[in-house]
Amino acid sequence: MPKKPTVHGEAAGAAGPGSDPSERRAGEPQTADARRPVIGAADSIEDEIITVTLRPARFDRYVGQQDVVENLKISIEAAKRRGEPLDHILLHGPPGLGKTTLANIISREMEATFRQVSGPTLDRPGDLVGILTNLERGDVLFIDEVHRLSRVVEEFLYPAMEDYAIDFMVDKGAYAKTIKINLKHFTLIGATTRPGMLTAPLRERFGIVHRLEYYGVDDLCAIVTHSATLLGVRIEPGGARELASRARGTPRIVNRLLRRVRDYAEVKAVGHIDHEVARAALELERIDLLGLDPLDRAFLRVLIDQYGGGPVGIAALSASLNEDEETLVDVVEPYLIQIGFVQRTAGGRRATNKAKAYLGAASPAEQPRLL
Ligand SMILES: Nc1ncnc2c1ncn2[C@@H]1O[C@H](COP(=O)(O)OP(=O)(O)OP(=O)(O)O)[C@@H](O)[C@H]1O
Ligand SMILES: [Mg+2]
Repeated sequence: MPKKPTVHGEAAGAAGPGSDPSERRAGEPQTADARRPVIGAADSIEDEIITVTLRPARFDRYVGQQDVVENLKISIEAAKRRGEPLDHILLHGPPGLGKTTLANIISREMEATFRQVSGPTLDRPGDLVGILTNLERGDVLFIDEVHRLSRVVEEFLYPAMEDYAIDFMVDKGAYAKTIKINLKHFTLIGATTRPGMLTAPLRERFGIVHRLEYYGVDDLCAIVTHSATLLGVRIEPGGARELASRARGTPRIVNRLLRRVRDYAEVKAVGHIDHEVARAALELERIDLLGLDPLDRAFLRVLIDQYGGGPVGIAALSASLNEDEETLVDVVEPYLIQIGFVQRTAGGRRATNKAKAYLGAASPAEQPRLL
């Protein structure tokens, strides 16, 4: 997931300057934050706390992704029986689908110590030496955004992953010498939203690779109902379904919608979330019936109205929308592709007839009844 803007940032800190919409002067162009009410704002500390609170700790609470979970359970069981650490694991898929959660669960099931670092924060091999040499046999090192490791760090990791040894350069110039350090047999779990950006040698060093898929409405219903219990919010099945069907197939989004709707319900409906309260709150958030938010719609509108439906390159879309390219590629496009609204072709992005029909129904200026 992109570091900037911190769209889905697990590790995102407090909101940066100007990220509070109230700070914006009237007449300024609409920024990403204004257009993305649900998943755009940088994660606040409260967000962080709630993410951790709602994160399932065991497989039995991890909803959906049956194939991935089944396979992982077998790998874990087999490793335990052999008394060996797990093979290195790569988890990939769009933001918010549960990669970090899964890495935590795997580590707990293996009764291993969990160490977490983020790819872009590791500038030099030296940043990793201390971490690697402190790992015990079986420990899990989780590297988030593994596609954003610098080339030198990545190359430094190859022998660590393969031979459990690193060559570390000490001193400089004439006194420089390389020392070999043996490591314990650890397990590296890498997470990425962009598996295509991993170099082949790195990808090949992961023995287990799993892709997480978008969740169905029933799974999201189960997740949001359980989250409501944890947060002490009363929610009816109709309210849960309404949130689940507008959550873009993403557990993190359904949990965020729950919090937004909870606030609304506390003020307007004595804290009780039924179908009508959920619908009204989401309308206020400008989340439409498919779960698309203003940025998704702006993306489609630029693609269709300004570029005649495409094909158009991502750089042009990014410039027209005044939006970070990474955000469009990592966050906006995958879901629009998943629901058959956008295609990625060799010539660029194209809008499908389905997207044109949908937007046509909402045009010209985002009719409120659909939003
Ligand atoms: N299968 C699941 N069952 C229940 N809750 C889930 C599941 N997957 C994710 N969640 C919830 O969604 C939230 C986001 O999940 P997580 O942080 O693991 O996503 P991620 O794939 O690591 O995202 P990113 O790519 O942005 O780092 C978690 O706090 C957790 O509560
Ligand atoms: Mg994560």
